[in-house]
Formats: sequence, C-alpha cells, structure tokens
Amino acid sequence: MTPQPQARVFSGIQPSGGLTLGNYLGALKRFAEQQGKVETIYCLVDLHAVTVWQEPEALRRQTRELAAGFIAAGVDPARSVLFVQSHVSAHAELGWLLMCVARLGWMNRMTQFKDKAGKNAEKASLGLYAYPALMAADILAYHATQVPVGEDQKQHVELTRDIAAKFNHDYGVDFFPLPQPVIEGAATRVMSLRDGTKKMSKSDPSDASRINLTDDADSIAQKIRKARTDAAPLPGSAEGLKDRPEARNLVNIYAALSGEPPDAVCARFEGQGFGVFKPALADVAVAQLEPITRRMTELMADPAELDRLLQAGADQADAIARPIVDETRRIMGMIPRR
Ligand code: AMP
Ligand code: TRP
Repeated sequence: MTPQPQARVFSGIQPSGGLTLGNYLGALKRFAEQQGKVETIYCLVDLHAVTVWQEPEALRRQTRELAAGFIAAGVDPARSVLFVQSHVSAHAELGWLLMCVARLGWMNRMTQFKDKAGKNAEKASLGLYAYPALMAADILAYHATQVPVGEDQKQHVELTRDIAAKFNHDYGVDFFPLPQPVIEGAATRVMSLRDGTKKMSKSDPSDASRINLTDDADSIAQKIRKARTDAAPLPGSAEGLKDRPEARNLVNIYAALSGEPPDAVCARFEGQGFGVFKPALADVAVAQLEPITRRMTELMADPAELDRLLQAGADQADAIARPIVDETRRIMGMIPRR
C-alpha cells in the first residue's frame, strides 16, 4: 500500500492560440495563486494540440507565447514546474499504457470528442479520440491530486479517475491516487464582450469579443468602451445583475481584476451608468494587464532564455514522472531495462 500522497496540483493548457483575459482570470492567475500552498506542475500540452491540424511555425510561436503568458501572469519557474509536454516522454508512454486500460465504451461517451469531431467523425484523427487517455496520463504520471480545469474538462478528469481505479483494481495495487477536478468559480468565468451568454474565447471570430493578453492599452480601453451593455444604471448589489448578462460580466471582470467582491463594486457604482463605469473598468484593466503584456513582450524577445527555462522545467518534470511510469510498466509485467 502506498501512503496517502501529498497534495499536488497539475494542469495543462493547449498552445493552440493566443491567450485571453478569460485564460488569465480563469486559469493563469489562479495557477499562480496556488504556488507555495501546494506543489504545482503546469504543462503546455502540445501533444494535445496536434490532435487537430497545427501549422508548425504557429505551434512553435504559440508554445513560447503560452510559456511567456504563464510566467508573466506570475507562474514562477523557480516555484512551479513549468514545461512542454512533448519534452517529457513519460506522457506519450503512459498514454499508451492507459489506452490499454481505458474502455472503448468510456471513450464513446466523451462529449468533447463529439463536439470537436462533429458530423465528420470518420475524418477526425485517432489522436483526437484518444485525447482523454493522454490527459489521464498527464495527471497520473505525477500522481497529481488536484486538477484545476474549466467545466468542459470535468468529464475528462472523471475519466482519469475511472482509469486510475480500473488500473488499481485490475493489478491489485493502490498505485494511482484518484485526482479531484477543481472547477473554476462562477466569478472567474469571463464572458464575451459582444454576447454576455457566450464564454470569452480565442476561437471567437470577432476580436472585439475578447481582450487578448497581447492587446495594448488603447485597444483594451476601446474594446471595453464598445462592449455590449444595457441602458440601465448599475444596481446597489450583484443580485440586481441577475438578468443582465452583459452588465454582470463587466462587473465580474472589474471584481476579479481588482480583487473585490462584485457586491462591493456594485455598491461603489450604484446608480451610475456605463458612461462612468466603463472608463473605470478600462483603467483597472489596463493597470493590471499592462505589466503582464510588457513582461510577455520582454520574454518573447528572448526565446533562447524561454527555451532554457522550459528545458529546466522538463528535467524537473522528468524526475517526477519517470519513476512513476517505470513502476507502472513493472506492475503491468514488463521486464525492466537495465
Ligand atoms: P482554453 O483556452 O479553452 O483551452 O482554456 C485554457 C484554460 O483557460 C482553461 O483552464 C479554461 O478553463 C480557462 N478559460 C478559457 N476561457 C475562459 C473564460 N472565458 N473564462 C474563464 N476561464 C477560461
Ligand atoms: N484538455 C485540457 C483543455 O483542453 C488541457 C489538458 C491536457 C489538461 N492535459 C491536461 C488539463 C491535464 C488538466 C490536466 O483545456
């Protein structure tokens, strides 16, 4: 029997596009806040990204940009393990072993595959189908106990638990801990600036719908000024925003950026219109995001240094994952290579 594992956070983001304010508030900022409380391991999941077509040059650029985004948002490579998935072969290796544990019937229930493959599932890559088994390997290769993700990834973390439990049961071991999904809170769900019912997303065709972490101060202010709203003044408490998705979104963004509860933001702006609130929000957004954007630009200007940090992260990741994958092979009956 293995002893109760220590708390260890693992999460991954795909380098498949630019970063938005949603990624910052919903993921990166929270990832940074975990540091020092528990051991934190963050992975740029390029093996997941190539389950759909990626232009090689764009993938390289986006991977470095994502690394810069993590660091600029406060994920410190000296306090967290920050690395690229394809640099650590344990992921692909354990991914294969776990594909032999996962059942076809389980994979067939994955809603993200159905959404992403669409009507033309015959033309989807085999990797897109196997994607959740690789994600299970990411998590289990570190015996991670907590996995901060968005709601859409909850099913994949639950599948990870099923795979871990089946492995432990089939081989009569207590080897893989069952990880917990940690779902982003409602306050950090950032919605589109054009439609308060849709998530802010890098894949939205309208650039005005999102704030990119690479936007300069002028475009941030302009996007906020043009954000869709209603004509009513702000209520005295967040309760009054229930049926006003666009207004609620802007208040939530203000609250998340300034670190105040939404109620406090409402109380301060009670009775004011958006002519007053939007410029105040733009000020807070620019003040918070400008240093991040500046740091990202600096980091991107020195790709050799970024790569060096990522190599060091890969060495640390490898040192944790390698013995766990070796032990998995041993449990499964493969003779060790000496
Ligand atoms: P994605 O860009 O969808 O691959 O997501 C990467 C990470 O950012 C995940 O942890 C998501 O939950 C988070 N994220 C993406 N968009 C948003 C959003 N609009 N609001 C909050 N979190 C988000
Ligand atoms: N599938 C996740 C997403 O698209 C990214 C991911 C890959 C991940 N491996 C992971 C997230 C392991 C958490 C843990 O957002």
